[in-house]
Amino acid sequence: MNSKLVFFSNFLNSPNEVAAIAPSSRHLINQILSHVALEDANCVVEYGPGVGTVTYALLEKLSQNAKLLCFETNLKFCNFIKNNMKDDRLVVINDSAENLANHLKRLNIPDIDYAFSGIPFSLIKTKNKNGIIKITRDKLRQGGKFLVYQQYSMMIRKYLKIYFENTKTKFEFRNIPPSYVFVCEKT
Ligand SMILES: C[S@@+](CC[C@H](N)C(=O)[O-])C[C@H]1O[C@@H](n2cnc3c(N)ncnc32)[C@H](O)[C@@H]1O
Repeated sequence: MNSKLVFFSNFLNSPNEVAAIAPSSRHLINQILSHVALEDANCVVEYGPGVGTVTYALLEKLSQNAKLLCFETNLKFCNFIKNNMKDDRLVVINDSAENLANHLKRLNIPDIDYAFSGIPFSLIKTKNKNGIIKITRDKLRQGGKFLVYQQYSMMIRKYLKIYFENTKTKFEFRNIPPSYVFVCEKT
């Protein structure tokens, strides 16, 4: 099945988990990538890769020695990525973003350069939202960034600002639907 169909069919099966009808557009991906220097990164994490649209763009920019850890709760998406992206730098983890620390410890990775998140924060309980943002801030290196793209609402901004003093807001209308991008730097 083609990736857009897999995405839409998983949305129909799990609307609250997937929370979008289509993968991110090239315009949104370019907006997200314009805030990072991936060539110099050692370890990058992605939350909610779906069919791997952003994942693919990250792998294109990362160096050959880097690692990309993808956290995805939906097993069908995990299997789709594993079957369609053969890359030694990629580690697909069928678990929630909240468990970042356990997996970094297991893989012997001390910290991360960037985290990218497309997960639907507006549908996640406050306690879990805070947990994901806090552990991401804790595990980022100094100067590292958390990039959050979020459709529909700016609600997540107030939670991000609790943990990241330096948070910038961008908007990309060339996406279905248009999306906010929050650029949070660990200072
Ligand atoms: C809107 S889709 C984003 C897909 C993809 N990143 C893109 O830009 O096309 C949200 C994704 O987040 C995943 N997800 C939801 N909650 C999650 C969580 N707590 N941890 C990891 N992934 C999660 C869903 O299964 C889904 O793949």
